[in-house]
Amino acid sequence: MDLKERIEKLEAELNALKELPASGLEAFRIAYAGKKGHLKQLYEELKDVPNEMKKEVGQSINGLRMLVDEKIASWKDHESSDSAKERIDSSRPGHSSATGSIHPITLVKEEIIDIFSRIGFSLSEGPEIEDDWHNFSALNFPPEHPARDMQDTFFVGKDEALRTHTSSVQVRVMEGSQPPIRTISPGRVFRNEAISSRSHCMFHQIEGLYIDKGVSFADLKQTLLYFAKEFLGEKTDIRLRPSYFPFTEPSAEVDVYWGLETETDYRITKGTGWLEIMGCGMVDPEVLKNCNIDPEVYSGFAFGMGIERIAMLRYQIPDIRMFFENDVRFLNQFRTL
Ligand code: PHE
Repeated sequence: MDLKERIEKLEAELNALKELPASGLEAFRIAYAGKKGHLKQLYEELKDVPNEMKKEVGQSINGLRMLVDEKIASWKDHESSDSAKERIDSSRPGHSSATGSIHPITLVKEEIIDIFSRIGFSLSEGPEIEDDWHNFSALNFPPEHPARDMQDTFFVGKDEALRTHTSSVQVRVMEGSQPPIRTISPGRVFRNEAISSRSHCMFHQIEGLYIDKGVSFADLKQTLLYFAKEFLGEKTDIRLRPSYFPFTEPSAEVDVYWGLETETDYRITKGTGWLEIMGCGMVDPEVLKNCNIDPEVYSGFAFGMGIERIAMLRYQIPDIRMFFENDVRFLNQFRTL
């Protein structure tokens, strides 16, 4: 290739070069304007060009040099205003942006809400600071009942306390509407208890309430069986054991059959295979009366469960305190995205 052709080729290359090559500005400068660069080489060869052509060839090399200088100047500007490090290199792997995870309590709560909403239960919520009436009196707790004691309840005023269960929300729903009522109330509750791996002074409950004409204990049992099967699988069985709550009569504790396959199963079910997951019962006629619902016309059932306990079973979480420590190593295990 003769000198003229090479000059033209370099010129075309330079004109096609719109952006600084990936090798960087200094590499470009050395290649074109360095001691052993293209320009130096061309000027060197200019010496051997016949005199009658020197002027023309010399001018085109000068043109080339100006082009190189222009490129260097414009990329330098660019580089100093937008430092080399920040320049976008679209071939580099991107930064993954940190996404949050959904708290296991929320995951379990949403799932339980979803299961009950499929059979017509609506959602209700109420205040965490409650008065004596909604948390205790309306629910048939006698004035000297131990649950009102300083041992169990955090009082925040003369007549106000942090609610000890979400049954208080159900009182509010009953007071504010007439049957049929089908509602579930999730929320945070507080009890003045020693903190350990199994109990905390703050936890979450979901309580359910169904009031209509002719609601029976059989309806309660079928509703809970439906829930257990949806939540734990089609083969799940439940059993009800007699119990006591001031606001339900009769009352029961609900166990689900967990199985006895592993050592952990033995430990958490105390060797029986059964696990207690909630309390329930038929709403006491006195409670209906307290909430202006006629117990001669209507009857209903209620149930309540602790979300932490259910989440601990579902995810095999050994210590209830883990839910409230906000340790990302724990929380990140519940990524759902
Ligand atoms: N409120 C009860 C508790 O906190 C649970 C419960 C709700 C029991 C409804 C029976 C009916 O332990």
